[in-house]
Amino acid sequence: MLAEIFHKFGSDKESFHHYASIYEWLLFDLKHKPIRLLEIGVQSGGSLRAWEEYLVNAEIVGVDIDPACASLRLDRARVVIGDASKPETFSGLGDFDVIIDDGGHQPADQLATLATMWERTRSLYVIEDISWKLANPQFQLVDTTFHRLRRESAMWRSSIIAPCWTIFAKELIAFKKLPQRGNHEQG
Ligand SMILES: C[S@@+](CC[C@H](N)C(=O)[O-])C[C@H]1O[C@@H](n2cnc3c(N)ncnc32)[C@H](O)[C@@H]1O
Repeated sequence: MLAEIFHKFGSDKESFHHYASIYEWLLFDLKHKPIRLLEIGVQSGGSLRAWEEYLVNAEIVGVDIDPACASLRLDRARVVIGDASKPETFSGLGDFDVIIDDGGHQPADQLATLATMWERTRSLYVIEDISWKLANPQFQLVDTTFHRLRRESAMWRSSIIAPCWTIFAKELIAFKKLPQRGNHEQG
């Protein structure tokens, strides 16, 4: 159970957000495959350790703005230090099957990273905590990622989000790319 793995490694993905069952569903077809996973937001390494255990064949990369994350001891995951809102942070990292944005949770940053990394996502792109400020009364009617995606949906639909499913679940949004039709499917 992914929930127990998140608990075991101290990630708040289950204890606070209850994302485990959503991730089990989203990752169902990828769980045993040799995928490349990128997570933005490393902190103490809890979720990277959870992905190491749950996705046994995955190559895992974490990005965090905090230089202290570079000294974490992890098994298979590697950590890159940089600001996820800046495209240069991801230069040389290649494409990923799964990208999870659990970084600073600022809408402008989340959308900047999405704009940079969507083309480099093969299957699944998740943005966590898209409207967390709504729960805080001092941030009423703020510009959350959820509101921005809705407001700018025409632009996102036509240029970025088109070939995918969009799933809103709890406080996250997931974009799951549809399989591309290959040459062998033509005719
Ligand atoms: C919620 S924590 C990540 C928790 C981790 N994913 C887990 O579940 O165990 C958020 C992390 O994002 C990092 N962060 C904040 N702003 C960032 C940015 N602009 N670029 C990259 N990382 C950022 C913080 O330093 C912090 O370690």
